[in-house]
Amino acid sequence: MFNFNYYAPTKVIFGKGTEAEAGKLVKAFRGTKALIHYGSGSVVRSGLLERVKASLDAEGIPYAELGGVVPNPRLSLVYEGIGLAKKEGVDFILAIGGGSVIDSAKAIGYGVANEGDVWDYYGRERQAEACLPVGVVLTIAAAGSEMSNSSVITKEEGGLKRGYRNDICRPKFAILDPELTLTLPDYQTACGCTDILMHTMERYFTNGGNMELTDQLAEGLMRTMMEKARVLKENPQDYAARAEVMWAGSLSHNGLTGCGNGGDDFATHGLEHEMGGLYDVAHGAGLAAIWGSWARYVYQDCLPRFYRFAVNVMGVPAGKDEAAVALEGIEAMEEFYRSIQMPTSFAELGITPTEEELADMAHKCSVAAGGKKGSAKVLYEADMLAIYRMAASGKTP
Ligand code: NZQ
Ligand code: ZN
Repeated sequence: MFNFNYYAPTKVIFGKGTEAEAGKLVKAFRGTKALIHYGSGSVVRSGLLERVKASLDAEGIPYAELGGVVPNPRLSLVYEGIGLAKKEGVDFILAIGGGSVIDSAKAIGYGVANEGDVWDYYGRERQAEACLPVGVVLTIAAAGSEMSNSSVITKEEGGLKRGYRNDICRPKFAILDPELTLTLPDYQTACGCTDILMHTMERYFTNGGNMELTDQLAEGLMRTMMEKARVLKENPQDYAARAEVMWAGSLSHNGLTGCGNGGDDFATHGLEHEMGGLYDVAHGAGLAAIWGSWARYVYQDCLPRFYRFAVNVMGVPAGKDEAAVALEGIEAMEEFYRSIQMPTSFAELGITPTEEELADMAHKCSVAAGGKKGSAKVLYEADMLAIYRMAASGKTP
C-alpha cells in the first residue's frame, strides 16, 4: 500500500431542483461578477440557462455570457473567453454543461489569473500559479471534471488535444441535479457511462500497490455503473439510475478510487486524446474503441489485476488458468460496450486512419506523455503504435 494525498475540496449539492441555488453559491464563494459559460445550445433549449440566470439575478450578481463550447473544447474559444472575462472584470466562472464546458471554464480561469499564453500549461511548458474560481451546474455525467483537477483542451492547429492537471482549478462547487441529464441523447449517455467506468479502470489496472478498501470501492462502482448503464439503455428516463450514474461520475474521477494503490495508468486516455484531437470523436466512444486493444496488449503484464477484474467485476468463474480468466474478463467488458452501442474498434467508431496517421498519433501520444505512459504496462511509442494498429485492424499482433 502506498502513501497518498486525497484532495476533494468541491462542495457538492445533489438532487432535484438544486440549480436554483447557483446564485447563492456564487455569492457564498465570493463571486461578485460571473462569466456564464455553456455549450452549443442544450442549456438554452432546456430552459436551464434562464433558470440559472434568474438565480444570479435574485442574488444581485451581474454576469457576462459566453456559449459555443463544443465537445473536445477549442483553444480559440478559450482565448475569446479570457478576453471577455478581462474586459468585463469577472471574478467567477460559472460553467453550465459537461466536461467540455467545465474544462474550457478552467482554461479561461487560468488565462485570466496568469500572464502569458494559457496553452503553455497544456504544452507542459510551465505551471499556472492561480485560477479564477469555477462553479459548475452539471448537465451530463461523464468526465468528472466537476471535481477533478484536470482540464483538456484542443488546439485546432495540429489537432492537439492536451490535458493539464493542477489542484487550483478544482471547482468550488458542483450542482448535480440528475434530472438535468434526462434530455441527453442515448449516445451521449452511453459515452458518459463509458468514461465514468474508464476513470476507475485507469486507476484499477496498476502494478502499484493494493488497498483492499479502494479495490472494493472501485469494483462496486464499476458493477453499479454497468448495471445502471444497462437500465438507462432500456429506460433513459429512470431518475434513480441517472442519480447513481451522476454520483459515480464525480467519485470516479476525484481521486477516491486510486487511494493507496498508486493507480494512475491512464494510457487508454492518452491514446484516446490523440484520436479526439485528430478525428473529433466523442471521448467516451473513443475510449471504448481503443480499450480492448490496450487490454489485450498489456494484460499479461498485469495479470493479478485483470484476473481479479474478470472475477469480481465481470462475473467470470474463478479458475486455475489466470490468463484465460483474464481474457474472458476483457471479452466480457467488450461485450458490455457493444450492449450499450459503444464501439470496440476503429471501424465501429467510424474512423479509418492510414498507417501514417497511426504513426503520427503514436508519436504525439508519446510526446504528450513525456516519452512513456502506463502502470499496468509501461508503454513507449512502439507499443502505442502496436495498440493503434490492433484497434485499426481488429487483430491481435
Ligand atoms: O453543447 P451542448 O449543446 O450542451 O451539447 C452537449 C454536447 O454535444 C451534450 N449535452 C450535455 N448535456 C446535455 C447535452 N445534451 C442534451 N441534454 C443535456 N443535459 O452532450 C455533448 C457532450 O458534452 P461534453 O461536455 O463534451 O461531454 P463530456 O462531459 O463527456 O466531456 C467530454 C470532454 O471532457 C474531457 C474529454 O476529453 C472531452 O474533451 N475530459 C475531461 C476530464 C477532466 N477535465 O477531468 C477527464 C476526462 O477523462 C476527459 O478527458
Ligand atoms: Zn475520460
